[in-house]
Amino acid sequence: MSDFEKQYYEADSFWSEGQLMDERNLNRIQTTAGLIPATTNTLLDVGCGNGVFLNWLLDQGTKIKLTGSDRSETALKYVKTNKIQSDIAQLPFEDGSFDCVTCLEVIEHLPVNVYEQALKELVRVSGKYIIISVPYEEKLEEAHTQCPNCRSIFNSDLHFRSFSETVFNNLLNDYGGKNVSSQKLGEYSMFKGHRLYQKLFFPHQLLAWNSPICPLCGYAESGSKPQAGNIAVHKRPNGILSAIKSIPKTVWPKEKKNYWILGLFEKC
Ligand SMILES: C[S@@+](CC[C@H](N)C(=O)[O-])C[C@H]1O[C@@H](n2cnc3c(N)ncnc32)[C@H](O)[C@@H]1O
Ligand SMILES: [Zn+2]
Repeated sequence: MSDFEKQYYEADSFWSEGQLMDERNLNRIQTTAGLIPATTNTLLDVGCGNGVFLNWLLDQGTKIKLTGSDRSETALKYVKTNKIQSDIAQLPFEDGSFDCVTCLEVIEHLPVNVYEQALKELVRVSGKYIIISVPYEEKLEEAHTQCPNCRSIFNSDLHFRSFSETVFNNLLNDYGGKNVSSQKLGEYSMFKGHRLYQKLFFPHQLLAWNSPICPLCGYAESGSKPQAGNIAVHKRPNGILSAIKSIPKTVWPKEKKNYWILGLFEKC
């Protein structure tokens, strides 16, 4: 794994106070919290980022002993609970250390060499329950960006895989876990055939540079601002020309989608 991939997650613009906590994410966090089994005394959040989930649980006055782990030193600065810097593929805990292990919006970021080991680790350190969420049926190419330096094309959120409901529900089958329940969250409206829509009306947006760093060559344009990759219907372009160009938005057919799928799993 390249150091540049690791460095991507050190961009402070991802993590500073309040990042990741808009209304939609708050709903995700609340729904996830509702899945924590009542018998849980200890919880580990793997890939906890800036503590968006853990800090919220803490603010609610939870009695659960909370621990966060993440590889990003920058993200961990914002976590208010117990925390440890570690790679998901090598969690520094004994087998069955936590009643419940959560891993939210992380496994879609894992390169192939880490992915399977990560799933094994989640099951290994859990005493009984594992809660996982991922983007639901994401079209990875819709958030493609191209490095101006090496011309590599990659998903600007560094998502490496997309999950159908079936793949998600069977996620832990080979690693000693089974799905108990799953649900889709975060409904939003999107243009049907979004890629074609973009090609026709907003071709300049295709592959536009939108990453703090290129994970392949390390190129980092100063001042480049990372944003959520999916361009949903509510996003507005700037300027009069863009306003005229946005007219198709009113007539192009739309469809309802869900950002996430969330599931409770049990160790077999
Ligand atoms: C999109 S963020 C999710 C943050 C938070 N869990 C949430 O629900 O919003 C993905 C997180 O995975 C972490 N991550 C990516 N690869 C990792 C790895 N190999 N080991 C540990 N953490 C990793 C990143 O540092 C980042 O904090
Ligand atoms: Zn590059």
